[in-house]
Amino acid sequence: MQLAVLGATGGTGTLVVEQALAEGHSVTAVVRRDWTGPRHRRLRVAVADALDPGSLPPALAGTDVVLSALGSAQARRPTRVYSAGATAILTAMREVGIRRLVAVTALPIAPAAGQDLLHRRLVHPLLHRFFGGAYEDMRRMEAVLLDSDSDWTVFRPPYLRNGPATGTWRFAVDAPLPRAWTLRRADLAAAMLAATRDDRLVRRSVNLAA
Ligand SMILES: NC(=O)c1ccc[n+]([C@@H]2O[C@H](COP(=O)([O-])OP(=O)(O)OC[C@H]3O[C@@H](n4cnc5c(N)ncnc54)[C@H](OP(=O)(O)O)[C@@H]3O)[C@@H](O)[C@H]2O)c1
Repeated sequence: MQLAVLGATGGTGTLVVEQALAEGHSVTAVVRRDWTGPRHRRLRVAVADALDPGSLPPALAGTDVVLSALGSAQARRPTRVYSAGATAILTAMREVGIRRLVAVTALPIAPAAGQDLLHRRLVHPLLHRFFGGAYEDMRRMEAVLLDSDSDWTVFRPPYLRNGPATGTWRFAVDAPLPRAWTLRRADLAAAMLAATRDDRLVRRSVNLAA
């Protein structure tokens, strides 16, 4: 497949690029500035900013699936990067004829029915005090996806950690995921790539954890 990865310079996005190349895909790394990651004959680098909608169509053209791990570096501040980014990505996808998008928000924005009691009552209210600005915009982003006619999947991980892939993760669609404390970025990247081949996850928000 020909994949485009947004947020390709980030912790998760870099791993999506690396794993996609290892799986034999051709990849477009969509970056705002320089690409300092690995070079590869199946890797193309395209410069685009998700907040500059006009820059996206040339970067995404010719792609089968878009994977987005973009996010705000300052999660404590109000942001529009998730919702405005999703709007711009979906518009560009429509323009160049792409239907499939795999993207990321976060577990604390799962509806109450998708959270276990401990997270709903204690953990997530605490996290919202610190990261509420990002979470608010992630909610707007999920509303943008729901409103679209594209074939999206959104993953909601808990706290992301670095380290090698374990190759295992648990997920729950529209249901609570007990003991959802952390997830390795390498496993999130693998789950995102696996979702590109899993039609059961189309138009689903997926709670995901180690
Ligand atoms: N950190 C956590 O514990 C945690 C928990 C749950 C969910 N999440 C979410 O999981 C996803 C991946 O997290 P991460 O920590 O691996 O990401 P990260 O390292 O913070 O990377 C974010 C990426 O987004 C890119 N980006 C930001 N604004 C952009 C824009 N306007 N246009 C294009 N690219 C833009 C950044 O590019 P530059 O290099 O150019 O800045 C970077 O590549 C994010 O959506 C994050 O919110 C994180």
